[in-house]
Amino acid sequence: MSQFELKDEQNHPRTQVPEFTQMVEQSLSRRRFLGGAAALGAVAFFSASPLSRAVAAATGSSPLLGFSAVPTSTADTFVVPPGYQAERLISWGDPLFSNVAEFINGGGNTATDQLGQFGDNNDGMSFFPLDDHTAILAINNEYCNYELMFPHQGKQMTAEDVKKAQASQGVSVLTLKKGAQGWRLEKDGPYNRRIHANTPMAISGPAKGHALLQTQADPKGERVLGTFNNCANGMTPWGTYLTCEENVHGYFGSTEHVDISPAKARYGIGATDAGWQWHRFDERFDLAKHPNECNRFGWVVEIDPHDPASTPIKRTALGRFKHENAELVVDKSGHVVVYLGDDERGEHIYRFVSHNKYDPDNAAANRNLLDEGTLYVARFNSANDGELSGTGEWLPLIFGEQGLTPENGFTSQAEVLIHARLAATQVGATTMDRPEWVAAHPTEPMVFCTLTNNKNRGVAENQAVNGPNPRAENHYGQIIRWQPSAGSHTDATFEWDLFLLAGNPTVHKDNLYAGSDNINADNMFNSPDGIGFDKAGRLWIQTDGKYSNQGDFAGQGNNQMLCADPATGEVRRFLTGPIACEITGLAFTPDNRTLFVGVQHPGEDLAGSNFPMGGDNTPRSSVMMITRKDGGIIGT
Ligand code: FEO
Ligand code: CA
Ligand code: CA
Repeated sequence: MSQFELKDEQNHPRTQVPEFTQMVEQSLSRRRFLGGAAALGAVAFFSASPLSRAVAAATGSSPLLGFSAVPTSTADTFVVPPGYQAERLISWGDPLFSNVAEFINGGGNTATDQLGQFGDNNDGMSFFPLDDHTAILAINNEYCNYELMFPHQGKQMTAEDVKKAQASQGVSVLTLKKGAQGWRLEKDGPYNRRIHANTPMAISGPAKGHALLQTQADPKGERVLGTFNNCANGMTPWGTYLTCEENVHGYFGSTEHVDISPAKARYGIGATDAGWQWHRFDERFDLAKHPNECNRFGWVVEIDPHDPASTPIKRTALGRFKHENAELVVDKSGHVVVYLGDDERGEHIYRFVSHNKYDPDNAAANRNLLDEGTLYVARFNSANDGELSGTGEWLPLIFGEQGLTPENGFTSQAEVLIHARLAATQVGATTMDRPEWVAAHPTEPMVFCTLTNNKNRGVAENQAVNGPNPRAENHYGQIIRWQPSAGSHTDATFEWDLFLLAGNPTVHKDNLYAGSDNINADNMFNSPDGIGFDKAGRLWIQTDGKYSNQGDFAGQGNNQMLCADPATGEVRRFLTGPIACEITGLAFTPDNRTLFVGVQHPGEDLAGSNFPMGGDNTPRSSVMMITRKDGGIIGT
């Protein structure tokens, strides 16, 4: 977790306290002890339902997890199981074009170089196959590490430095070619593209043109420059890429006094930025001069990676918040459903349901499916007996309904979407322990979401301990899952339980901080973040946690990636990353024989990594490529 990420963990002021969380105040002592009951609960959840049998049948009797676990590591290396191999595909600063400079250690590259180089802090990514030996890999570039990007480590920022930082974020689109040695970047490939904080984009959907999105440079509120802090991702069946704007608040600030509205405050926007200093050199980010510019960020952006000249589109129907990923499924009804997490302490889980249906035979008709539909937010009800399971409902965020009315500050659907967090509180959404990625099972209607940690749980007034967030001062995190009540992603209600509670059973005994029963001394970790299913139904789990290897985190080592069998609850460690990195972003080739995994910010805060080049080289965020030595399917 970087110094800048820590900034998003402040508990931003709220306008109201959600009723539900006030209501649900169950102390840990009153709660049925999870160890033992937890795994039983998890298994029972599935054994009780036809779904579990379907999953078991679909995967056969052979175990889903066929690799040997790797131990924890504190080394500056990337470790995969025996029989597997990993190599570097690309790192921050590698040129995408032959007329662009190579990466220079110590921060020597210019802003112009960075515009043609792979961006920094790679995060979510999607693989778009074109044919057996050609593909597009679209990869988010979330933020940058000033301490590694500039010789002055960010202490003497200039306008040129800010341009370089702006060029290092956004999305990198790569053309990949497969040869005898596997997949490689094709320099100058036809799809190669950098999208960054100054790339022109369109705004579409219900909030397009709203007064809150209008600026001096764009009086109509329908064109915006750029995307940044691109966290995780999504992929549509019509061939586009979704990139999610997360901690955008930290890039706005002011050198003068500026009045901060309650709505801005709820989004963490204030006169003091998170240390990026963009507002000092680019007045677009100065709140005193351009108070609405910040409302044009915090969206999901749709990109056509097949057309390097295409204009990215901000889809306002999906709401504005600190978007983590956008997990898109085509429901059996034909409607497109997108699950969305808002990663901040005490924020919420959302669901978008398209008005129109997906048409597999009409690509053009699908292009604007994400412009029209209903955004919902989740309310989780706890079972009365204190079990860590219960029912839930999706609360629609529709102007004029459930108090989303002018007397409560909402004058249009556009405003409901621009201030989705306020709308969620108004309708009674459940505050969660930092919702990160959502992943939907490939064949069954069940959905998982990582709740990475929340030190404010049970401490902040609006974040009482509740069913899905059962631990006060939760620094380990948990994974929640739910099944729609009638088997459709468009259902109004669902049943939920906790798939796992991360914890440390070597430090804590007989309480929830030891973790659930499927967590043991051999597979423990903290702060689950990236998750995704492969097509066989293995759940891959990546961590962005504390890597001190001490105290509550003793024995947990560097950040890692694990694999879980959703039917049995078994969790096994698959890889470990280098020093001070986060493991984030995953994409499989369609044959599941190559897995791309992201190593983000190795050596952050000058922690002493030289990954991936070793020696005394500058550490660089990188995409790794994992295969089996026998060419087999990953995970089996
Ligand atoms: Fe970008 Fe919430 O992680
Ligand atoms: Ca993340
Ligand atoms: Ca993260």
